[in-house]
Amino acid sequence: MSTEENETASADNRAPGLTRNLFSIIGLAMAVVAGANIAFLVLLEALRPNPYIGIFAYMILPGIMVLGLILIPIGMALERRRRRKMAPGEVPRFPRLDLNVPSQRSAVAFFFSFTAVFVSLSAVGSYRAYEFTDSVQFCGQLCHTIMNPEFTTYLKSPHARVACVDCHVGPGAGWYVRSKLSGAYQVYAAFAKVYPRPIPTPVANLRPAQQTCEQCHWPRMFYGAQLKVFTHFASDEKNTPRQIRMLLDIGGAEPSAGIPSGIHWHMNISNQISYISTDSQRQVIPWVQQKDQFGHVTVYESKAAKLTAQQLASASKRIMDCVDCHDRPSHIFLPPDEAVDNALFTKHMDASLPYIKQQAVEVLTKTYATKPEALKSIASSLRGFYSSKYPQVYNTQHTAVEAAVVEVQNIYSANFFPYMKVDWRTHPNNIGHLYFPGCFRCHDGQHVSAQGKVIPNTCNTCHTVLQQAESGVPVMGNTAGVQFQHPVDVGDLTQVTCSDCHTGGTGP
Ligand code: HEC
Ligand code: HEC
Ligand code: HEC
Ligand code: HEC
Ligand code: HEC
Ligand code: HEC
Repeated sequence: MSTEENETASADNRAPGLTRNLFSIIGLAMAVVAGANIAFLVLLEALRPNPYIGIFAYMILPGIMVLGLILIPIGMALERRRRRKMAPGEVPRFPRLDLNVPSQRSAVAFFFSFTAVFVSLSAVGSYRAYEFTDSVQFCGQLCHTIMNPEFTTYLKSPHARVACVDCHVGPGAGWYVRSKLSGAYQVYAAFAKVYPRPIPTPVANLRPAQQTCEQCHWPRMFYGAQLKVFTHFASDEKNTPRQIRMLLDIGGAEPSAGIPSGIHWHMNISNQISYISTDSQRQVIPWVQQKDQFGHVTVYESKAAKLTAQQLASASKRIMDCVDCHDRPSHIFLPPDEAVDNALFTKHMDASLPYIKQQAVEVLTKTYATKPEALKSIASSLRGFYSSKYPQVYNTQHTAVEAAVVEVQNIYSANFFPYMKVDWRTHPNNIGHLYFPGCFRCHDGQHVSAQGKVIPNTCNTCHTVLQQAESGVPVMGNTAGVQFQHPVDVGDLTQVTCSDCHTGGTGP
């Protein structure tokens, strides 16, 4: 038999083609339909970025396409087996490939060029999938309602241009895989609606800050003090403004840039501090251990709440890092008191409206079941207050009252998320000590070592008050620093906890 004859014979053998079977046809249809859809969605996404398009274009459809492509050869193999069973001996065990046959040659050429194009497109595709699942859109918007509190506050924070993954995942393959695994569960939890409300804080397995924050902020390069000005408005009729200017001794430890000192130096560079907390939010800290640069260990225990030996042995210790102080670098849920002070200071709200500070804080401190209910109630209480108590103001300063209503509603929308049960009360901010225990969790004068050493709580350990002013008139001040004067007498300031009275809501 000549080769020519052989070709016709085997060509006859192959007809009808092995792909003519149910599996291969379904597979082919899946691949073609998915491929066409991907092309369309990628185009659409380029025009209008949207996380829902992304999840189809880069995750679901490619999965369907690959499944389809796998089904084609599986179908062919099954079909071949079936034919061999039907006509034993006639169909050889393995397919015969002969590149001298033009039709086979073009089939092989098609196969290889298709594979080459497919592999390079999937390389681009998987990179896009990787980029997409790491994007702020994916993290912040896909699970719209769940992450809404974090996403909304993030957009207004100093880190609005830092991607979620830079803090929550960081560099390296290990954490990438870990995050995708827990992410897969989170996507499921979102669809199945089995997520906790609010999402618990602190994040139990957050990556250590050395590998996230310190990729951008280099702790050795902090130095010197920072001038901070705090402006408050009293809850009196005149909304009396009060200002405190102070130097915060942030410090650092780059000897060429200055003497190592300050908050950052003590906490991060010269000492390793670990602690035990007895609550899930790390607000109650009865046990603190300090290891200095020479390896000396000092243990401080709270006189107020001493742990038993058994509690001590079973408790887990946490090494202090950036997020033990900066736990809200990006998701800042402002207390009403602070948010209203900011609005008055930036003149978004008119401080000449009598009692506006007190009224605004009061409506914001109430708990509402839903956002529409809150917005309605804010408007009606503020209007009600001015129309009944100050009818003249209500008439002459009508626009100011309405502007205040809008501003208080904006404060509510930006900081309160009733659906997720989130507001400042659920997410304490550990910088400072006014509205939350913060630094005073340890620096309360109650934490003493066996040798009688106390974690310092004198008022100039961390800052120097330069000046205080009331209604624009300096109360006192000089550049050497002064003692902070509390506007009303509350006794010895080192013996009180600020956040007992300053709850952030109604009150001072
Ligand atoms: C500058 C760093 C940073 C960025 C950027 C960032 N986060 Fe966070 N996030 C944190 C820290 C720190 C915590 C609190 C961790 C802790 O207390 O253990 C946190 C907590 C959370 C929590 C837990 C609930 C809570 O509020 O404590 C969620 C959910 C969250 N972030 C989502 C996001 C999303 C979504 C984005 C992007 C839109 C994002 N984060 C961007 C640093 C960041
Ligand atoms: C990808 C880089 C990047 C990462 C990661 C990052 N930051 Fe920042 N951070 C910045 C930039 C940029 C600014 C300055 C923003 C500005 O001044 O507008 C900033 C500002 C800050 C500030 C000053 C905020 C203020 O009110 O002025 C603090 C505090 C801070 N970051 C803490 C953290 C902490 C804590 C983490 C880790 C949880 C972190 N950052 C992670 C880039 C980063
Ligand atoms: C003991 C608590 C504490 C720890 C731990 C801590 N910080 Fe700070 N940090 C502060 C305080 C307090 C300020 C003053 C800013 C303020 O009050 O808002 C500050 C300020 C900053 C600023 C703003 C500096 C400026 O000059 O504007 C950055 C950025 C910062 N910290 C980053 C970090 C990083 C990164 C880490 C971890 C390596 C860290 N901090 C650890 C308490 C701390
Ligand atoms: C987990 C407990 C803990 C927390 C929370 C904490 N500190 Fe400290 N801090 C310590 C310990 C322990 C020392 C070492 C005391 C010593 O050396 O005498 C220290 C020392 C310091 C010092 C140096 C004091 C000195 O000797 O002059 C400063 C400044 C400081 N802390 C600032 C802060 C600030 C600001 C905060 C809040 C943002 C804060 N700390 C929160 C435990 C804590
Ligand atoms: C362990 C460090 C530390 C100690 C001790 C400390 N403070 Fe502070 N204090 C801070 C930090 C940090 C801030 C800045 C908070 C911020 O940036 O919001 C602050 C802010 C303040 C403010 C301004 C708060 C505001 O929002 O208006 C006052 C007032 C103040 N401290 C008074 C005191 C007094 C009085 C004492 C002594 C009883 C004291 N502090 C002890 C760390 C400390
Ligand atoms: C016993 C309750 C109590 C304690 C404790 C307390 N305060 Fe106050 N604080 C008040 C009252 C009341 C006012 C006056 C509020 C007003 O005039 O509207 C006030 C006013 C202030 C103001 C002026 C701003 C404003 O809202 O009018 C600052 C700042 C302040 N306190 C800081 C602190 C600090 C820092 C501590 C902790 C060292 C502290 N307070 C502890 C009750 C307290």
